[in-house]
This record gives sequence, structure tokens and C-alpha cells, in this order.
Amino acid sequence: MSTPVIELRDVHRRYDGSSEGPPALRQVSLTVRPGEAVAVLGPSGSGKSTLLNLVAGLDRPDTGTVTVNGVRVDALGETASARYRRSQIGMVFQFFNLLDDLTVTDNVLLPAQLAGMARGKAGRRAAELLETLGIDRHAHAYPGRLSGGERQRVAVARALMNRPPLLLADEPTGALDTASGEDVSRLLADLNADGQTIVVVTHDLALAQSCTTRTIRLLDGRIVADQGTGDIEGSFAREGAR
Ligand SMILES: Nc1ncnc2c1ncn2[C@@H]1O[C@H](COP(=O)(O)OP(=O)(O)OP(=O)(O)O)[C@@H](O)[C@H]1O
Ligand SMILES: [Mg+2]
Repeated sequence: MSTPVIELRDVHRRYDGSSEGPPALRQVSLTVRPGEAVAVLGPSGSGKSTLLNLVAGLDRPDTGTVTVNGVRVDALGETASARYRRSQIGMVFQFFNLLDDLTVTDNVLLPAQLAGMARGKAGRRAAELLETLGIDRHAHAYPGRLSGGERQRVAVARALMNRPPLLLADEPTGALDTASGEDVSRLLADLNADGQTIVVVTHDLALAQSCTTRTIRLLDGRIVADQGTGDIEGSFAREGAR
């Protein structure tokens, strides 16, 4: 079997000051293999973003290990962690997190510049991504002029700029209308069909069903189900879609 992209072992995380209630994550173990598209579903507060942040090296577990492509992410120092994110991870967020005073192209170029990619090469890659994602006509616009769906496609282009082995998305359709949400989920499905490994956090079962093959369900910081997305049953589906 191939090396896992993500390997969590007995991960435990409790935030400072939250001594009451369940920890954000408890005893979470999870393996994600190359080419998988995994949805992380669960009610608000169940630990979905915490899980994603640990994989991205933005947070550390209290105990347990987080390994991504063979790298112990939980053991990286700050500089190495930033470098890890630049080279290994693309991230997409609910509210796009674009820089409004940079053009679409400059937003997309940013990760390449931080990674020191040659300008010409970076420019070609950015243009190619904008074209693939159908937003090339907005290349010189500022994000504030774009629709939510267009902004999210810019965010996806930026996330893919450095060809990260792993794409993480936290509620990528949460701020979009239904049609734009469907565009973004089709985009994620296409990327996965081309081999991109994806983990997408969502409340939206329709999103999970349209772009993932495996669904993990979190409840109070624990994985309570891990199954084929197509196998999710009606009652479960309704709960997941809440
Ligand atoms: N920075 C923080 N400091 C303290 N507690 C936090 C922090 N971030 C999250 N928590 C707590 O940890 C638990 C899990 O939060 P998390 O953000 O992972 O949930 P989530 O599943 O992403 O929820 P949502 O669907 O609302 O985004 C919650 O109880 C939350 O209040
Ligand atoms: Mg969250």
C-alpha cells in the first residue's frame, strides 16, 4: 500500500480554558491515502476545524501524532511549519481569505512568490489555473468585484498554485448560494478525478455526496463513523445536513 497522505494517531486536543465539556478532539486516529476525497461531517463544535488545523500544522495536539506525507507535522517549529504549509498544503476557507487590495492574479501568485518560484513560471501557472477554473476574464480584477462563487474559485486557484499534494477545505460552500456551491463542489470533484487528495469539512451532505467518496463523522471530538459517502443512509444524511 502507498504511504498515507495523512496519518493521525491517538490525537487529543483540548483548548486552554475549556475544562468543561468534551475536548475538541479525543483519541482520533485516521489514515487518508493518496487520491482519496474525504468529507468530514458533524455538528457545530464537533471538532472539524480543529482536525483540519492540526493537519495543516496551524495547531498542535496535546498528545498523539500528526504525520503528513511522512513528516511529523506536530513536531515542526514555526519556520518549518510555514514551509510545510507552503509546499504540502492548499487551503480553502468559508470566507475565501483573499487579499482585497491585490488583483485576482496577484492573489493566486502569492504562494508561488513566498515559495520563491521563478516569475515567468509562476505567471504561466497562474494563467493556466485561472483558465482551468473559468475565471481568466477576471485576472486583473480585484476580488471585491467578483461574486462569491468566483472568489472561491480564485481561492481554489491560489490553494493549487504550488501543486500541493493535499487540499484542505473548511466549509468551502458555506458562504455561497446553491448554484455557486454546486460549481465549487463540481470543481473539487474534477480535481479529485485528476488525482488530487482532498479533505473537505462541511455541514452540507450534498457537498459531501457530490465530491467525496468517504465520509468521516465527528461528534464531541470523536470519530463516530467512517464510511463510503454513498453508503450514508437517509436518517443519517438528514442529521449530517443540519
Ligand atoms: N481557539 C479556540 N479556543 C478555545 N476553544 C476552541 C477554539 N477553537 C475551537 N474551540 C472549541 O473546540 C470545539 C471544537 O471546535 P471546532 O472549531 O473544531 O468545531 P467545528 O466542528 O469546526 O464547528 P463549526 O461547524 O461550528 O465550524 C468547540 O467546542 C469549540 O468551542
Ligand atoms: Mg469549523
